[in-house]
Amino acid sequence: MFTGLPEYPWQKLKPYRAIAQKHELGIIDLSVGSPVDPTPEIIQKALDNSTNAPGYPSTFGSLEFREAVVEWFKRRRGVTLTSDQVMPNIGSKEFISFLPLMLGLTKGDVVIQPSVAYTAYVVGAALCGAEIISEDDPANWPANTKLVWLNSPGNPDGRVLDAVELKAAVDRARELGAVVASDECYAELGWGRWESELIPSVLDPRVSGGSDKNLLAIYSLSKQSNLAGYRAAFAAGDADLIKGLVNLRMHSGLMMPTPVQNAVIAALGDEAHVQAEKAIYRNRRQILLEAVKAYGFKIAESQAGLYLWATLEEDCWATVTRMAELGILVVPGEFYQEGGSKYVRFSITATDKDIAEGAARLTNALGLKH
Ligand SMILES: Cc1ncc(COP(=O)(O)O)c(C=O)c1O
Repeated sequence: MFTGLPEYPWQKLKPYRAIAQKHELGIIDLSVGSPVDPTPEIIQKALDNSTNAPGYPSTFGSLEFREAVVEWFKRRRGVTLTSDQVMPNIGSKEFISFLPLMLGLTKGDVVIQPSVAYTAYVVGAALCGAEIISEDDPANWPANTKLVWLNSPGNPDGRVLDAVELKAAVDRARELGAVVASDECYAELGWGRWESELIPSVLDPRVSGGSDKNLLAIYSLSKQSNLAGYRAAFAAGDADLIKGLVNLRMHSGLMMPTPVQNAVIAALGDEAHVQAEKAIYRNRRQILLEAVKAYGFKIAESQAGLYLWATLEEDCWATVTRMAELGILVVPGEFYQEGGSKYVRFSITATDKDIAEGAARLTNALGLKH
């Protein structure tokens, strides 16, 4: 058994869940980013219509699938691609976790991730024995860097990198000969400035300078389309990298099922459900944001995505305890590297009822705040 990974961090939340569950009105779980609203009917129907699938699916994705992704990149991201630059993923987490291994990284190689980062980047480095460094400043990336993870909008902090910041990262990675993998699954969920401006992709010509060499953008429909249960995602970019990765995935049987491919085509062709879901999140976010601020939290970044990245300027576990005593479960920032040790993450992927109840508890606790 491979033992290079610790126990899944969420286990550490169990005692705090137990405290929160004792609240007389029950637990409000704001710890997970798993969507709770229904999968849009247009997508469910596409899946229903594809249940007859006797043959193996294409690892590369059907041409219709790839063309739907190409069309989406053009319409929603301002990026022009060809269909050989696109491949399906069975949810993006598997792709993220195995990318360093599939790229052939090994001991002595460095993988860069943001200073506060989604947990799967560490996993990918551990699986191949590479070293992971959490560093936002491209100038500090060492010479043996082989892979750079960007995550904009970021989880947990909701930070958005503009085209200039993305370009600086790409330029430095190019100097080092490293691959840049940009995890962009919250790109449709921008707030404030990012409601009117498209959140840039690493494949945006202002960033890539018109060459996709060594660049990969990773996108998921889990959040924008309430499809986390379908495992529906894709990667796009450097055609040579895509070809090599598809070959390895063919050998390993990593195929997106045909019915899911067809569901993705339907999802990408329909903008209405994405906007409708976004309106729901906008409302939840506003309600929770006001309550979290009223309680005394300072909010950092949180310009996009499904989380509030908040601090009481104390150790994150003290804040997790305070919240658990109100019956609210949040994630300690420590799960996302040292940079998060004074923060907690509130998720807005709870029902309207739970968000309202969580907000009421925070507001009513005003007398307790420090
Ligand atoms: C930054 C980031 N990347 C990737 C994922 C994984 O998404 P999925 O595997 O559902 O496509 C998540 C899920 O929360 C995420 O926050």
